[in-house]
Amino acid sequence: MNGDGKKPPMISVQDLWKAFGANQVLTGINLDVEEGSTCVILGGSGSGKTVLMKHMIGLLKPDRGKVVVDGEDIVPFDERDLERVRRKFGMVFQGAALFDSMTVYENVSFALREHSDLSEDQIRAKVREKLGIVGLRNVEERYPAELSGGMRKRVGLARAIVLDPKIVLYDEPTTGLDPITTDYVDDMILTAKRELQVTQVVISHDIASSFKVADKVAFLFKGQIVAEGPPQELRHSEHPELKHFLQMWFGKS
Ligand SMILES: Nc1ncnc2c1ncn2[C@@H]1O[C@H](COP(=O)(O)OP(=O)(O)O)[C@@H](O)[C@H]1O
Ligand SMILES: [Mg+2]
Repeated sequence: MNGDGKKPPMISVQDLWKAFGANQVLTGINLDVEEGSTCVILGGSGSGKTVLMKHMIGLLKPDRGKVVVDGEDIVPFDERDLERVRRKFGMVFQGAALFDSMTVYENVSFALREHSDLSEDQIRAKVREKLGIVGLRNVEERYPAELSGGMRKRVGLARAIVLDPKIVLYDEPTTGLDPITTDYVDDMILTAKRELQVTQVVISHDIASSFKVADKVAFLFKGQIVAEGPPQELRHSEHPELKHFLQMWFGKS
């Protein structure tokens, strides 16, 4: 706890800069994600959302700045320390990225086999627990191709949370989905917050979806977070670029 009785943020990105050659992608990102909250990073295609997320798990090194995760600045960390930090994260990718030749059970239990020495009974119990949290039952022996898109996403989340991460990252979880499946994924993100009390970072360019799941929306534009706040507040932002972005969705009301 700080002096003001407030917990420090689970993730704190401070003055983060990153260029690829002449392409200045991040130009001083500042962003705090509170423990147990869901933060949506909103921004146009190519604005640097994935690059920012990759810094949060140490897959990219910045040119400058800090990335404090659960109290540790991970920027100077070597691969060994990063491995330890990455155990705190679960990742949900754009496609569900399941192994097609494996059953749901094999997909979800995969990381447990790699990273724990639980017995087969314990693994089975854990897989069932995680599938239950994401609202799936009796699908263990099915193959991904036999499931709907929304169910595959849920299996992807079950797999991401099987090692009990503190933080779950979602990179464009609803991109390319039909509206019903998008709703299903939004519900899933809300359920994960409620049932697991995890800290979540969601990258999106889908405004309706962002506003439904976010405690805080952060708008990334030209390499910086130029506006942030609870969805109801951002809805009425006077920031010209964000306004423009919102008008494309909500119309010029
Ligand atoms: N590994 C890389 N090497 C060079 N350029 C990259 C790399 N990763 C991303 N970029 C560039 O960084 C910019 C932001 O990319 P990205 O974060 O993927 O955007 P988005 O907001 O769509 O997720 C793009 O111009 C992209 O080409
Ligand atoms: Mg991206």
